[in-house]
Amino acid sequence: MKKGFKDGFLWGGATAANQFEGAYNEDGKGLTIADVSPGGKQRMKLLRDDSYPLEIDLEKYTYPNHLGIDFYHRYKEDIALFAEMGFKTFRMSISWARIFPNGDDAQPNEAGLKHYENVIDELLKYNIEPTITISHYETPLNLVKSYGGWKNRELIGLFEKYARTILERYASKVTYWMTFNEINTGVLGSFFTLGMRNESLNNNFQALHNQFVASAKAVKIARELNPNIKMGCMSIYATMYAYDSNPVTVAETMEENRMFNYFCNDVQVRGEYPTYAHSFFTKNNVVLDVQPGDLEVIKENTMDYLSFSYYMSTTHALKTAEKEESEGNFFGGTKNPYLEASEWGWEIDPVGLRIALNDLYGRYGVPLYISENGLGAVDKVEEDGSIHDDYRIDYLRKHISEMEKAVTIDGVDLMAYTAWGCIDLVSASTGEMAKRYGFIYVDLDDEGKGTLERSRKDSFEWYKNVISTNGVAIQK
Ligand code: BG6
Repeated sequence: MKKGFKDGFLWGGATAANQFEGAYNEDGKGLTIADVSPGGKQRMKLLRDDSYPLEIDLEKYTYPNHLGIDFYHRYKEDIALFAEMGFKTFRMSISWARIFPNGDDAQPNEAGLKHYENVIDELLKYNIEPTITISHYETPLNLVKSYGGWKNRELIGLFEKYARTILERYASKVTYWMTFNEINTGVLGSFFTLGMRNESLNNNFQALHNQFVASAKAVKIARELNPNIKMGCMSIYATMYAYDSNPVTVAETMEENRMFNYFCNDVQVRGEYPTYAHSFFTKNNVVLDVQPGDLEVIKENTMDYLSFSYYMSTTHALKTAEKEESEGNFFGGTKNPYLEASEWGWEIDPVGLRIALNDLYGRYGVPLYISENGLGAVDKVEEDGSIHDDYRIDYLRKHISEMEKAVTIDGVDLMAYTAWGCIDLVSASTGEMAKRYGFIYVDLDDEGKGTLERSRKDSFEWYKNVISTNGVAIQK
């Protein structure tokens, strides 16, 4: 077996429009759910509270997403830095509300379409393949307020129209696409994913069903436009461990694992609802409104590749057990005594990534794309302007080493790795700038103060070496 990453391996970085573009109300863009999400550690709690009005209240809150890091105006400078690192791909999302400001407009906004065309052309100028996420926590606010979010079937048609518009415009230039970011957070009722808060389990799964149909329709359109296009699903994967060897703990972990880590992938890659999901629905009185044609479109338009984000693993103990809880952006779990955690309490587990890759490749047999991975940390700028982020290099090195084992020893077909937040951006779970992932530092703090100037951290040079040697220089 050939050692190391395959030729043409797509090294790069990942972002989302709402977390770094800024320009939240420029050139005809409408509001998205991200634009009414306040900054700060209380963000997720506030958004889960029905009494929190989904409106902008500048007297009470700050909204770091409004400015982002101003990629909207600085994309040329930033893409030049990505090119300097040698990126082969750059994952970005298109903000639906730049194209259809209210989500249900009759005509698309040409200024929005033109903007993304410019960004794509700039990437292609440096031979960087764009990877586009069609929906990354950016549902237009109007679709939440007037339609009730994704539980409403009308969103299928609106998404289809949006997807068709951008695919028609960019399908000849962009090969790699993902439909919904971290779609499986919908299983947990995530507002970011579903545009709904505190609804019944039935509504959450209905919303997911609607997204499966919408996603499959986008895949169909894409293939009709360009048969060489590669369409992928995207979910968050957390390697799941049973806390102890009690068979009851292991059985519970299995049940949790399949509804969280497999369910959405099973539907989108295998093309049908798995048996265990039907049992889950029966047990929880979930009855879905499945219209004629839904299951067929899902079956006929499965994904070319499977992409996932990986930040941490999670450990499951029996509900009766008294164990210390760990933290995560969407889920906690029981503290794993073998793992250290980041400053934000996310348990760091590189070996868990090798397990994830084997698990997913063994189950699906399609190429895998690691679309997010990285360490959120506070960076210190030295007096001379340098930033020594050896902790980030250490995190990435260990994860990429495990990836390399999965490829070389285990034979996993891995096609891409895009480090999350390759340039510092606003955190999704806490709306902070202080939680940085980048190789490129952006001078901006949580109060929106700073010059927005970009500078290279130590990890910049390190990642550049990793890319130029196709992963051989991980240890250096
Ligand atoms: C993923 C999301 O859950 O994790 C990203 O797809 C997010 O949007 C990333 O930014 C890291 O999470 P956070 O909360 O540290 O920004």
